[in-house]
Amino acid sequence: MPLMITNGRLVTAASDCVADIFCEDQQITAIGGNLPAPPETTVIDAAGKLVFPGFIDPHVHIHLPFMGTFAKDDHRSASLAALAGGTTTYMEMICPARDEQPIEAFELWRDKARADSCCDYSFHMGVTRFDADAQRQLRSIVADHGVTSFKVFLAYKGAFGVMDDELYGVCKLAAELGVTVTAHCENADLVALRQAELVAAGKVGPEWHEPSRPVPVEAEGVHHFCTFLQLTGARGYIVHTSCRDAVEIALSFQSRGVDVAIETVIPYLVLDDTHTHRPDFEGAKYVMSPPLRSKEHQAYLWDALAAGHIATVATDHAPFDFDAQKRMGDPAAGKDFTLIPNGIPSIEDRVHLLYTHGPAAGRLSLHRFVAAASTNAAVQFNLKRKGDIAPGYDADLVIFDPDYRGVISAETHRMAVDYSGFEGMPIIGRTEATILRGRVVDFDEPAPGLMIDRR
Ligand code: URP
Ligand code: ZN
Ligand code: ZN
Repeated sequence: MPLMITNGRLVTAASDCVADIFCEDQQITAIGGNLPAPPETTVIDAAGKLVFPGFIDPHVHIHLPFMGTFAKDDHRSASLAALAGGTTTYMEMICPARDEQPIEAFELWRDKARADSCCDYSFHMGVTRFDADAQRQLRSIVADHGVTSFKVFLAYKGAFGVMDDELYGVCKLAAELGVTVTAHCENADLVALRQAELVAAGKVGPEWHEPSRPVPVEAEGVHHFCTFLQLTGARGYIVHTSCRDAVEIALSFQSRGVDVAIETVIPYLVLDDTHTHRPDFEGAKYVMSPPLRSKEHQAYLWDALAAGHIATVATDHAPFDFDAQKRMGDPAAGKDFTLIPNGIPSIEDRVHLLYTHGPAAGRLSLHRFVAAASTNAAVQFNLKRKGDIAPGYDADLVIFDPDYRGVISAETHRMAVDYSGFEGMPIIGRTEATILRGRVVDFDEPAPGLMIDRR
């Protein structure tokens, strides 16, 4: 059934106008003033509302075996939460164990998403072992399945982390295939050494997570990764950049011609290291890696985002319950911060928080907001027909009410996790309706999402 959205203020990364949008066969087919609506057309009057391209989250974890447990969402709960927050497409990290076959991991993650996701989706293929056999399988995942990005962890020694010879091989393969290497950049050895020192000194609470992986540890990781990009000619993307030093190093490599893009994530923009000092182990809710930093770093990230130095704002959605899971690292039970599952759930809140603290606070233009939350990810990762409002694009649209005022709470969120890291935070504006490929999302009977071929 055709869909027409009338009188909305259409805002993209590059344009801003009041117009009607006509959608048919899952795509936008016309944009203009007073468009005719054929019989059977569903018409939504969006007067007074903003209309954005569907938002894209380029970094989420849904199926995530990690630190002795599993992240809480499944693809249904995560995708419905995403859609409620205006995200129509996400990119999930496939994180195989080192002894797992890459192709089997790809099929496992793909089949879970295929069965349950109500958002459109793609993947970054995690490379946690790189040898001749893994290389053969990675070639097939790129060529036969259209997953055209890899993910490497320079952190998490003994788990997902790769060695330097493996990193070199992954980058060389990526350069040959023309695919992007995304990377978690922290020096894994330094993290392990500092964790051991702190725990031995009895510094075991969540507030010691940041000192175990301070700014220079991340900065070294970024320098390390960019050096491998420089030597191999691979295209890179640094995930969850948390601090000034890391951004500046990436920019210095960019200025020397290295093709590397910078992502930050919403927790770094609205939370800071003081949150991990909250009493009664509540600080564990805010343990993620790299860690939340000081307000000075946060202010720098906003400036870098406004200047366009940071390309994308993702979530790094990684939901672990406070009670049963974060408590795995509770000193009251004889444990320590190194055992707290890392991650902050945020797939539902990213767009609303970014709008509230960005355009609504005068920190970000509406165009930069759309670019960072949608368009730049589409361009970076070749998500064809996503990230813009134009004829021929998928009819992924968000009708957004800028006059809404509310508050975030775990009591009302859709994510399958028992807390919100943003509990009580005020929200200005919210998603009123989400449209995925021309259908208004019905949360009682959602339609299945599709995997995007990025070749
Ligand atoms: O703390 C985090 N970031 N958890 C998810 C795994 C990762 O490193 O992205
Ligand atoms: Zn990471
Ligand atoms: Zn992540």
